[in-house]
Amino acid sequence: MATQAQTLLDQLPPERRAEVEERVESLLAELSLEQKVGQLNQLNADFATGTAVGDMDVEQGILDGDIGSVLNFADVEEARHFQELAVEESDHGVPLVLALDVIHGHRTIFPIPLGEAASWNPEMAALSARVAATEAAADGVHWTFAPSVDVGRDPRWGRVMEAAGEDPYLASEISNARVRGFQGEDLAADDTVLACAKHYVGYGASEAGREYNTVDISETNLREVHLPPFEACLDAGVGSVMNAFNLYERIPASSNETLVNDLLRSELGFEDVVVSDWNSFGELVEHGVAGDLREVARACIEAGSDVDMVSGAYATELVELVEDGVVDESLVDAAVRRLLTVKGALGLFEDPYRYFDEERQSRRILTEDHREAAREVARESQVLLKNESDVLPVDDGASVALVGGLADSATDMLGAWRAEGDPDDVTTLRTTLADRLDDLTYVEGCSRDGAVDDAQLAAAVEAVTAADLAVVAVGERYSQTGEAASRAHLDLPGDQRRLLEALVETDTPVAAVLFNGRPLAIDWTAEHVPAILEAWFPGVEAGPAIADVLLGEYNPSGRLPMCFPVTEGQIPIYYNRLRTGRPAENADVDLTEPPADPAEKYMSRYLDVPNEPLYAFGHGETYTEFTYTDVSLDTATITSADTLSVTVTVENTGERSGTEVVQVYLNDLVASRARPVRELVRFENVDLDAGEAATVSFELTAADLEFWTADDEYAAEPGEFEVQVGRAADDIVAVETFELVE
Ligand code: NOJ
Repeated sequence: MATQAQTLLDQLPPERRAEVEERVESLLAELSLEQKVGQLNQLNADFATGTAVGDMDVEQGILDGDIGSVLNFADVEEARHFQELAVEESDHGVPLVLALDVIHGHRTIFPIPLGEAASWNPEMAALSARVAATEAAADGVHWTFAPSVDVGRDPRWGRVMEAAGEDPYLASEISNARVRGFQGEDLAADDTVLACAKHYVGYGASEAGREYNTVDISETNLREVHLPPFEACLDAGVGSVMNAFNLYERIPASSNETLVNDLLRSELGFEDVVVSDWNSFGELVEHGVAGDLREVARACIEAGSDVDMVSGAYATELVELVEDGVVDESLVDAAVRRLLTVKGALGLFEDPYRYFDEERQSRRILTEDHREAAREVARESQVLLKNESDVLPVDDGASVALVGGLADSATDMLGAWRAEGDPDDVTTLRTTLADRLDDLTYVEGCSRDGAVDDAQLAAAVEAVTAADLAVVAVGERYSQTGEAASRAHLDLPGDQRRLLEALVETDTPVAAVLFNGRPLAIDWTAEHVPAILEAWFPGVEAGPAIADVLLGEYNPSGRLPMCFPVTEGQIPIYYNRLRTGRPAENADVDLTEPPADPAEKYMSRYLDVPNEPLYAFGHGETYTEFTYTDVSLDTATITSADTLSVTVTVENTGERSGTEVVQVYLNDLVASRARPVRELVRFENVDLDAGEAATVSFELTAADLEFWTADDEYAAEPGEFEVQVGRAADDIVAVETFELVE
């Protein structure tokens, strides 16, 4: 809250800043109106993520000075060729900026971002973004369209895999780290790329989880839920922001002046580039808020959106709009200035070819160090959802039956948005376990699509019956998640449940390994399968990282960044829900009959399922045990100038070393607007050997108590607050109260 963005210019040393500013201003003075408008036009070179728009040929467009940036180019050779056309053959000689969606790794693919967020470790996010930037920059990429920071509370929406889950605070910490990782200390270095916080804003609230659907949220919801991760990216100095596809107050984000000029630029101080999403300008016509591209171009430039990704609206209309006196040329200049500043900050004026170097490419891509980093992040991303009777880790010398097509599907391990990822780089779970276990039998049992035939089923049952433990890989295909991949049913696709049903009928304990890009509705599995390890789509080091956990070489430490619903009917479901007038939390009622007692009946609850999720936000088991004692506050009263210290002692009372994620939530008891029942405000990963204890302290200030009040301002209101310390949103171990006084 109350962020002030660190602009790209602010981040430059004074001398470079002066050089960039001077170069930008002299270019602005030299370029014709047509050339300036050309700078704002972004075209697609290679593959498309939507309808191909316009008929401009990329090469000709660059030559004619009609293109300022290109997305989705194929390789360094093509990139160099485009840059030569721009710098040496076009009249203006302004270098291009080249963009690609590098979302969770470039060639060395890391876990999907939702999985990475399950590490609850921002340093893991920074590490994977750092590696991704190093590889992307070595491959000619200047600009990645990442991180996605959309807060996702509807797992039907396929794009929840791309961001950091349901909580604004966790998402902010992770998103900030991603920006730092991508952009590094110096954007002009040959191992950093410009980041892009997307999709601004509210896209995660797409109604019914249906992709590209409408959004209707209040300003309070926007500011409290969807905006914070963007603010965290601005704090980290992100140099670009992408418009979302959705509406806000019935106006598309791309042409929404309240969102772009007023909120993002004036209030939050963002001075760098705003790029549209794929044809999101053109879609104003489909939304029915513009009649043609002329109206589109006018609305978007006036709203403060700078670069037009593929709609062609600016390229075809802006010159005439200025010449007709409809759009002031200063708006075009401001947008071009922002893009040229990006080019300057990237060092492209000094050396437009600095990112194209085949020698560097071979040294920096898919190195052993990068693979090791991917394994580390993948290890930390896994969440042990349950582990009844200590089924996991696998006992030494045990015979294991591995079942499930996903255990051997390299392509699925890469997840959606895989940039230059190559299935040939992936080590699958089957490959690793075959290597590391003396007694492993693999039976496909069901295909990666979830198809089961009777012969496969019988073979799986036979193998499992003969083994000491069954490890069963189940879940989604990667293509069932990501953009344009909403699902209405969130159970295990196909016949996978039939497979599990048959296997739990044997006397052999079963551990399920889940591969998926979203929370699934797996209540049957949760009830009948004794151990479940959530692995997400873990990336190139899938096999080694999962085996490390299964074999007990790494004690799982991931925690859910989004809750798992019992059923789709509970969606949207998230821990930091607002209070209702008739709360039924923890109501001990029979769910099979409508309650007769009016005090129980007329409550905010379902007749057929509990209100609570299957697995809560923050949930995750380990192979050891942690106990919390001595939770205390250093004072019972603070003023807005004070700091409150929350202290807790955590002890590892089990037999293995492990990592506990201590979580601190706040509950503002009475406020001018309804507040969530709890909100995460701090967390810390604490590494403890068996028998070891540590005292952890968290400092809170009045800034942590601020919210968007009934006076439409950010403020902390005096009154009583609860501090809730726990292991998960549904596992609070201690509640302490304090008061904020004037
Ligand atoms: C559409 C997606 O919404 C966006 O996230 C992505 O960056 C662009 N396509 C470019 O691929």
